[in-house]
Amino acid sequence: MPGAPRRSGDPSLLFVVGHPVSHSLSPAMHNGIIARLGLPLYYVPVDLPPGRLGNFLQVVREANFLGGNVTIPHKEEAAGMADTRSDAVEACGAANTLVVRGGRVHAENTDGAGFLDALEGNGWGRRFPRVVLLGAGGAARGIAWSLGTAGTRRIDVLNRNPRRAADLAAALSPRLPRVSFSAGDLRPATLREAIRGADLIVQCTSLGLRGEWENFPIKDVEKTARFADIVYRAGGTALVRRLRARGVPAVDGLPMLAHQAARSFALWTGRKIPGEAFLGIAKKALKI
Ligand SMILES: NC(=O)c1ccc[n+]([C@@H]2O[C@H](COP(=O)([O-])OP(=O)(O)OC[C@H]3O[C@@H](n4cnc5c(N)ncnc54)[C@H](OP(=O)(O)O)[C@@H]3O)[C@@H](O)[C@H]2O)c1
Repeated sequence: MPGAPRRSGDPSLLFVVGHPVSHSLSPAMHNGIIARLGLPLYYVPVDLPPGRLGNFLQVVREANFLGGNVTIPHKEEAAGMADTRSDAVEACGAANTLVVRGGRVHAENTDGAGFLDALEGNGWGRRFPRVVLLGAGGAARGIAWSLGTAGTRRIDVLNRNPRRAADLAAALSPRLPRVSFSAGDLRPATLREAIRGADLIVQCTSLGLRGEWENFPIKDVEKTARFADIVYRAGGTALVRRLRARGVPAVDGLPMLAHQAARSFALWTGRKIPGEAFLGIAKKALKI
């Protein structure tokens, strides 16, 4: 639903709504690109406690908002409360991007597509036949959907709470009939078994941001595999650093953040700005 920003004379607003939101790099990235392009837009952080999204979306429908991003803890509620939603949002049950047109809110999810753009930008391509997904939250769902639509044939989902891994597999397998899903827990033995022969391992839990991985079987990760952590830290997460030291190609979540932002920006404005431009601003903000 891209289109031109409305021209009432006042700038249109974009937002990231979350709780907390003060750590978000999205305002720096989007306002940096907006300034470069000289667009009449401004991107604001909105710290909104859980349970208030309905009121906020009503304001968004009626005021001068072009759209925005949604982050923890509002992604699932945003998917349900939007007026329309993309296939990715239908499949994942979570939205990270909202687009406002004619007083209606359309929900999109650019996390999974941004993840694949980031891997491609890293020279890894977009096709990974066998994937192990660690974590089963909203981000894991978006990534599983994009991998499945890009040709992945097997996805083993491992999660601390294995029931949630099974829920992810049950929700996505009818929509991705060519993908074979399995679900399990995060015990070292399960992990070791799953990562044998995997083309890609994706770290989608919040470990690395809150807490660290204990007992990750680093030595069992084959050097032919690739490892993508969607959490980011200046200098890479501890897992990324340890795997690189072992000779396993590994990337953290900053390129994904930049590429999902580029995709959201294109949905709001119709302007396709390379993800690398957003990545440059994010790195500067983190002093990398
Ligand atoms: N780079 C990017 O652009 C990007 C985009 C989106 C998200 N992220 C990051 O990705 C992470 C996950 O996001 P999300 O939206 O999927 O969150 P979410 O829906 O809250 O899911 C959190 C996931 O982390 C797991 N987890 C939490 N604490 C754990 C622990 N101590 N040990 C093992 N597993 C644990 C949860 O397992 P249980 O189900 O067992 O609780 C669940 O699988 C967050 O850190 C977020 O910042 C990055």
